[in-house]
Amino acid sequence: MGSEARIQNILVTGGAGFIGTHTVLQLLKEGFRVTIIDNLDNSVEEAVDRVRDLAGPDLSRNLRFHLGDLRSNDDLERVFSETRFDAVIHFAGLKAVGESVAKPLLYYSNNLIGTLNLYEFMTKYGCKKMVFSSSTTVYGQPEKIPCVEDFELKAMNPYGRTKLFLEEIACDIQKADPEWRIILLRYFNPVGAHESGLIGEDPKGIPNNLMPYIQRVAVGRLPELNVYGIDYPTKDGTAIRDYIHVMDLADGHIAALQKLFLTDDIGCVAYNLGTGRGTSVLEMVSAFEKASGKKIPLKLCPRRPGDATEVYALTEKAEKELGWRAKYGIEEMCRDQWNWASKNPYGYKTQGT
Ligand code: NAD
Ligand code: UFG
Repeated sequence: MGSEARIQNILVTGGAGFIGTHTVLQLLKEGFRVTIIDNLDNSVEEAVDRVRDLAGPDLSRNLRFHLGDLRSNDDLERVFSETRFDAVIHFAGLKAVGESVAKPLLYYSNNLIGTLNLYEFMTKYGCKKMVFSSSTTVYGQPEKIPCVEDFELKAMNPYGRTKLFLEEIACDIQKADPEWRIILLRYFNPVGAHESGLIGEDPKGIPNNLMPYIQRVAVGRLPELNVYGIDYPTKDGTAIRDYIHVMDLADGHIAALQKLFLTDDIGCVAYNLGTGRGTSVLEMVSAFEKASGKKIPLKLCPRRPGDATEVYALTEKAEKELGWRAKYGIEEMCRDQWNWASKNPYGYKTQGT
């Protein structure tokens, strides 16, 4: 980092989205200057306005928002020619597994071409520090648990393949030019919301993921939760995941950035961001019921194709090397998810379906 006191400029792609907004807020609080580029394909500018409100007038002066698409060279030129970035946190991408199976070209085009363009512009403007959003999806159906970073990786669907390819591409780029410093963060299951209840996850259409679905049932927008699979070889027959509070995830990005700035020979390295603890679907439902005081009606359904029985992280590497560890448990995740849901039953919209 050197001794200069210059404020560091961070480009956050996809910064209007779920994980992006929470991370941008933490970056501002840590004293970084942040530029977001987002095409608002799966988000709204209101989310960025709320981050500004939460950051307050002084810190929000350090936030710029560009409506732009990573597939557009013109949009990237506009962003990179305006600011000299010290590092990039790259969230922008499409993430719905089912949609990726139906529309593989869309996923390859958006996630791969968008990211390749981003690397081109980072290279052109001499910014060679990258934090990349990867996912447990790269572990496929893990044969062993907990998942460890050096497991053999495999993809189960086009979305997963984009993450797997992009991890490999990142390491190839770094190998060819050792000036690059790249951290690949493999998120487990991000849930929860900022404690204010002003920002949170707001998926378009019917949610694919467990917590946003539970949340919609709790606010009365959906009648019941489909529990996919009650015959798994687990304590209560439902599948087990490693849920992580989005604020812990946000802090993991700050830790990763600090690591990039301080470690010139970091290369291209992956870290799990999880809690290391597994929770079943029924345990999550019951924790949410407790936090919200709402009964979640259940419909017991067959397993969802492609779902793994049990997935959780070994978190030792991030703890040792990034000095980061998740602070929150499922009670806080459910409390904050409900706080966001009850204050914003229609997400960032005031009403709708
Ligand atoms: P999100 O959809 O809320 O945020 C992604 C943002 O990227 C959106 O605001 C979207 O409008 C934007 N975007 C997409 N394509 C773009 C493009 N071509 N140009 C500019 N902006 C674009 O998703 P999220 O949950 O915040 O996830 C962020 C990242 O983390 C994604 O890469 C996702 O694959 C990864 N991830 C998410 C999860 C999860 O469960 N939420 C788990 C593992 C990994
Ligand atoms: N589940 C239900 N009902 C629902 C939704 C989910 O019972 O309505 C169950 C699933 O069967 C699974 C668990 O809740 O057992 C968690 O499901 P999610 O869809 O929330 O999360 P997954 O772990 O299945 O998938 C997530 C992301 C994927 C990513 C994967 C691995 O959604 O994008 O983690 O990173 F690929």
